[in-house]
Amino acid sequence: MVPKIHSLGGYIHEYQKSLTNPESFWAEIAEGFHWTKRWNNVLEWDFEGPSVQWFSGGKLNITENIFERNLYTLGNQPAIIWEPNNPEEPNRTLTYTELYHEVNKFANTLKRLKVGKGDRVAIYMPMVPELTVAMLACARIGAIHSVVFAGFSAASLADRINDAEAKVVLTADGGFRGEKITPLKNIVDEALESCTCVETVVVYQRTKAKINMLEGRDIWWHDAVAGQSTECPAEETDSEDVLFILYTSGSTGKPKGIVHTIGGYMVYTAYTFRNVFQYNAGDVYFCTADIGWITGHSYIVYGPLLNGAQTLMFEGVPTWPNPGRFWDVVDKYQVNQFYTAPTAIRSLLSLGMEHIIDKKLSSLKVLGTVGEPINEEAWHWYHDHIGRNRCPIVDTWWQTETGGVMISPIPGIIPTKPSFATLPLPGIQPIIVDAEGKELSDHSVKGNLCIRFPWPGIARTIWGDHARFRETYFSTFKNLYFTGDGVQRDEDGYYRILGRVDDVINVSGHRLGTAEIENAINAHPLVNESAVVGYPHPIKGQGIYAFVVCGELSTGGEEGIRKSIKMAVSNLIGPFARPDLIQLVPGLPKTRSGKIMRRILRKIAEGDASNLGDITTLLDEEVVVKIIDGALVEVKR
Ligand code: WTA
Repeated sequence: MVPKIHSLGGYIHEYQKSLTNPESFWAEIAEGFHWTKRWNNVLEWDFEGPSVQWFSGGKLNITENIFERNLYTLGNQPAIIWEPNNPEEPNRTLTYTELYHEVNKFANTLKRLKVGKGDRVAIYMPMVPELTVAMLACARIGAIHSVVFAGFSAASLADRINDAEAKVVLTADGGFRGEKITPLKNIVDEALESCTCVETVVVYQRTKAKINMLEGRDIWWHDAVAGQSTECPAEETDSEDVLFILYTSGSTGKPKGIVHTIGGYMVYTAYTFRNVFQYNAGDVYFCTADIGWITGHSYIVYGPLLNGAQTLMFEGVPTWPNPGRFWDVVDKYQVNQFYTAPTAIRSLLSLGMEHIIDKKLSSLKVLGTVGEPINEEAWHWYHDHIGRNRCPIVDTWWQTETGGVMISPIPGIIPTKPSFATLPLPGIQPIIVDAEGKELSDHSVKGNLCIRFPWPGIARTIWGDHARFRETYFSTFKNLYFTGDGVQRDEDGYYRILGRVDDVINVSGHRLGTAEIENAINAHPLVNESAVVGYPHPIKGQGIYAFVVCGELSTGGEEGIRKSIKMAVSNLIGPFARPDLIQLVPGLPKTRSGKIMRRILRKIAEGDASNLGDITTLLDEEVVVKIIDGALVEVKR
């Protein structure tokens, strides 16, 4: 088992140990795993390159650490508890032994499809246990999975498949989400019109929708696994071999394929899961994220399963068939740890108390949040009405690039404070710097959040673009990993995340690049140019505000064009990236050198134009007045 912190003294001790001797701190944790060959060096690193290697020379297979390491004791215990979209449909439970057999069967299937070590497999699936089976089957044979969230459009899926040069795509006929059915296979078909690398598509049958199966390319999951052995020897992989690629948004239009490697990610997700949720054997743990995002990878799949935990996987949405659904699931399975996004809390809060008063919620011990800042009102509601004043809330700050939680309370041990992620976990060395990179070492400061020392879960590169990796994370401030987040530290040394300082926005906990949305809007034939910024939104945290310059209006007038812009964004990225507000403007505020002054647009979208700062460098100051006059939010002048 991974060591667990039991007391505040224990936390301080572990933290100190991780500072004074990080290598022996992490080596001790890594020793609890099964390595077929021990590592040569615990850590080699250089943030200039950048190059980070953990447990290099070590050999292992991450699935052996989930299965073979645990089967003897946990074989008959549930690994995955699956709650379907429709509560009337029977649920499913897979024990560790059953999951192991399914993973092996599918691993053998992949091998038969000529997938080998290092090959990329794109996964575009709904939240069914087979999605986890697919990921672990890749890991079993040393193939690299690239899960694409099943809400992305065909165009986005195609970009990701091409960037990773995936050989195989795993999908389903469709996916259920509340009353909606997403036609996943049709979307894959459309995506593959622009991908030449894909040889095979394996289709899991979920909705029984009518779909086309392309002879020679498409096969049904159930046909493909039929007759496969439930035994598949684990491929021996290197600690620094790639485990997966997961695409995330950045400040340019092109999504980045964040690369995580096996050994470090395993140690880090396992350690953080156990400590952040204070998981004990037999507990039932429920994370509401979608596996298509990093939270699902690290804290539905790898972290829990490496700890032999019972991880609950929910296919549906929080509001269907009614807004009490999460709480019904909690009561039905006696969930002990519950982990969700602030946006879900805010939306359920706004739907009223009648959906929670008849729920017991007595099994809950720890509540968690992730993905965006949590406002105090939501924090208190969660604490009082869901946690019934007895469950600590862990406000966990981390990123796709960090692999696992970085700053978070340890529940029951580190006193919480609403809207603060509190203190760094052992092994994490945050530093706050000003715009010039100078360390702000006092307590009670605000600045840019960086990390000054590697931890095992840190991303190693961007797939196919190491220069961009260096540029994005390691060049803004010398010798530091730059998170892109602004942060405040208070007099207790507690950290509070203030939000992104770059052109990334956080909409309902989904991370989106404003440039990506602008590219989609600009592709609209009537649009000349656009600028997208975030604005405070009561439920989503940030909403998407688009300022758009059109050449001429179509026959549908302004309303028509707004509609068709939203449709264009849906088609190019996905429905979750649709702008909330679209203001048609005569021009954008630009500097004389033609750069859009987003700072001004951000201020207007936030409803405060009283202090726009220096606008004398603007090419046309008049345009700002016109934008304020036509703003879709109330603007203080
Ligand atoms: C934001 C999600 C405030 C932050 C795991 C970060 C948070 C981005 C928190 C990463 C939190 C994540 N409080 N903000 N507890 N957790 N964020 O890659 O801006 O989808 O940089 O990873 O979400 O989003 P990502």
